Amino acid sequence: MAVGALLVEPVTDGVGPPLPRLAAMRITVIGCGYLGATQAATMAELGHEVLGMEIDPVKRASLAQGQVSMYEPHLGEMLQRNVGSGRLRFTDSYAEVAAFGELHFVCVGTPQQPGSLAADVGQVATAIEGLAPHLDRPSLVVGKSTVPVGTAERMAARLTTLAPAGDEALLAWNPEFLREGYAVRDTLHPDRIVVGTPSGRAEKLLRDFYAPMIDAGSPFLVTDYATAELVKVAANAFLATKISFVNAMAEVCEVTGADVVDLADAIGHDARIGRHFLNAGIGFGGGCLPKDIRAFVHRAGELGVEDAMTFLRHVDDVNQRQRERVVHVAAAMVGGELAGRRIAVWGAAFKPDSDDVRDSPALWAAGQLHLRGADVRVYDPRAGETARLSFPTLAYADSAVDACRDADLVLHLTEWPEFREITPDDLEGVVAHPRLFDGRNVLDLDAWRSAGWTVRAVGRR
Ligand code: UDX
Repeated sequence: MAVGALLVEPVTDGVGPPLPRLAAMRITVIGCGYLGATQAATMAELGHEVLGMEIDPVKRASLAQGQVSMYEPHLGEMLQRNVGSGRLRFTDSYAEVAAFGELHFVCVGTPQQPGSLAADVGQVATAIEGLAPHLDRPSLVVGKSTVPVGTAERMAARLTTLAPAGDEALLAWNPEFLREGYAVRDTLHPDRIVVGTPSGRAEKLLRDFYAPMIDAGSPFLVTDYATAELVKVAANAFLATKISFVNAMAEVCEVTGADVVDLADAIGHDARIGRHFLNAGIGFGGGCLPKDIRAFVHRAGELGVEDAMTFLRHVDDVNQRQRERVVHVAAAMVGGELAGRRIAVWGAAFKPDSDDVRDSPALWAAGQLHLRGADVRVYDPRAGETARLSFPTLAYADSAVDACRDADLVLHLTEWPEFREITPDDLEGVVAHPRLFDGRNVLDLDAWRSAGWTVRAVGRR
């Protein structure tokens, strides 16, 4: 691999002892959930020797057999290939992790704390405190988890205090920007690589580690800890703001007879604005955007700059309103009373190409309709099982058409390609009433209307 070609000599910048630079580096990945499993598998694929640290015995056992619990294109094959070749192994021992190599990626979760908007960095602290006492030689710990600004500096101090190697145990913060459904691609071809570190040695080691990506054109940006931490949350806050902006515009479009898709196309032609992430719909969800903007607002409050981030509360409110509007629109479309109405829901995942239902607007809306007495049938091409686990009282159908049997209303809430293939003919004689709500603004409304359907969408005529 290209990494091998980089092997020349130990890295040294005259500050302290050199960190070795190896052809196929021996790296470890601490925490093998979504981010960590992807990091471990892709880095093994690049030719590195990888040891994954996972404390959950069930998850560890399935990873060791090359199995991932979530649906992510390419990841399963890549994991299997590298576990099979022996380049990727898993452990639960920090001593083994420390002995294995000098480069350790921390990829643990930072979920929202119960009863608070704040992110819980407990797993990051546990990883640093578990690993540090075993670091008795020059080592670089690289945090990839999304953390509140200020965390890296605290963790660096903790690392130096606890590690026998003292200040030769370095910390860098290197946030990840991967999107679910594109996790492997985003990891191998990042838009940018951001490294927060005060250490020239850490920077050199990471430049070598990321050389294949840098050579392929990914910008490599070196900064301080705080900026690196903020880059991640700022990027997510900006994306969330774009979506809520266009959803707010959609509400204005609805009362003025304007069309939000035409509007987004038109403003998107301005290169300063751009068309990406301007798709109006039922709002954003998932394990990252909602949690990250809330944690950011909370952290801004702790730092005394809450007023500067007040707009993010509105971004969150506008987003929440989109899913609530699904319930109002559904009620209006079936004549005002939801109880006893049969409603087909196409989609449960928070976005297509994912089986993730965390904070999914689609599943939230389905759940609310059910709680208000509607007879809801959900179908999702991939997320049926995860949806059933988190919302077992909903009814789940085996196909999109099956979900529509005798339906008073069809709701299109996650834009899987297969839903765009369905034609009015496919539902002829299946639904009780031909009514459709397109919550993602991707269906051919004219085709459905010409077939006699009553159709509504988000901010569209
Ligand atoms: C996001 C960021 O994109 C990624 O960089 C970060 O590392 C993690 O969080 P992800 O959670 O995988 O990634 O989802 P993303 O593709 O960003 O979509 C987020 C949500 O926004 C989805 O619910 C999607 O349906 C919604 N969305 C996206 C819109 O409603 N409109 C859009 O125009 C784009």
